[in-house]
Amino acid sequence: MTRVFSGMQPSGDPHLGNLLGAIALWVAEATHAESLFCVVDLHSITFPQDPRDLRARTLDLTATFLAMGLDPERSILFLQSQVPAHRELAWLLECTASYGELQRMTQFKDKSSRGEFVSAGLFTYPTLMAADILAYDADQVPVGDDQRQHIELTRDLALRFNARYGETFVVPTGVYRTSGARIMDLQHPERKMSKSLDSPQGTILLSDDDAAIARKVKRAVTDADTDVRYDPEAKPGVSNLLSLLAACTDSTPESAAAGFERYGDLKAAVAEAVVEFVRPVRSRRAELLDDPTHLLTILADGAVRADAIAAPIVRRAEDAMGFLLRRGI
Ligand code: TYM
Repeated sequence: MTRVFSGMQPSGDPHLGNLLGAIALWVAEATHAESLFCVVDLHSITFPQDPRDLRARTLDLTATFLAMGLDPERSILFLQSQVPAHRELAWLLECTASYGELQRMTQFKDKSSRGEFVSAGLFTYPTLMAADILAYDADQVPVGDDQRQHIELTRDLALRFNARYGETFVVPTGVYRTSGARIMDLQHPERKMSKSLDSPQGTILLSDDDAAIARKVKRAVTDADTDVRYDPEAKPGVSNLLSLLAACTDSTPESAAAGFERYGDLKAAVAEAVVEFVRPVRSRRAELLDDPTHLLTILADGAVRADAIAAPIVRRAEDAMGFLLRRGI
């Protein structure tokens, strides 16, 4: 059976890009594959974190996974920090990646140029991500478009390791949505919606109430003419609204465009569709957060199941590299 793995950082309230570009795709993938979905908390410490915030956001994101419809019976839901394989394999892959290829990662270039403290972890981050995936022999990795370069690196590292030390890792493929793989900022439609960019009016968060969502959609930047058509190059603002409408209503941006004469009508329809999509997720998440013990129990169970898959794969990699395995393993 195909095995699917994906992860999300607990580094802020999830936004529509996370929900539509990633988790909605995971829910679909989980119906026909063995699947693991991970709150990648180790990834979120590349910048200093307040420990209390990290704890709270980790639970929030776990509740978000469930509220979006991931089923802990069907999928393994777990925390990266609770399964040692991720850290163990990361070092082996750090020594497989070259300095030059990590330097070429666009996310590293963007994030390291912001003038904040640049940790060594920010630089080696993609090798931890590769470890997340390779530790499970994952075949498919459903992600948003911004992760393409990291997935390519993961494939390169798997191929390089296999060539040096013999067939060890499954070479994974990225899975992307045909539309909605890149949800853009509503105020700056040329850049992706993001937790780390400071554009509160351009970012719809899961915690936004109905009125805030409607207001942000209605104030979204559109384009100079008045045509409603899907053309991301010439009409990035309107095309983004159409992608949102399509992703929330399970259609395509081209067919979602049909019937709209004016931007005002399109915005009203998008606002309604997004509000209807977000509202049940938001309220279900709030209910789930009332019982943190239940969430922690699901995570503990997930960690045991994840560990059972990953630990032998890491031992296999260590053995291939020439490390002596502890007797009895
Ligand atoms: P992260 O936490 O930034 O984002 C989680 C997922 O959300 C997607 N996403 C978007 N999709 C569409 N439009 C957007 N504007 C948008 N913004 C974010 C991302 O593509 C991602 O799928 N490095 C990863 C986390 C990670 C991971 C992994 C993913 C760590 N290990 C192993 C897959 C497999 C990241 O920072 O994603």
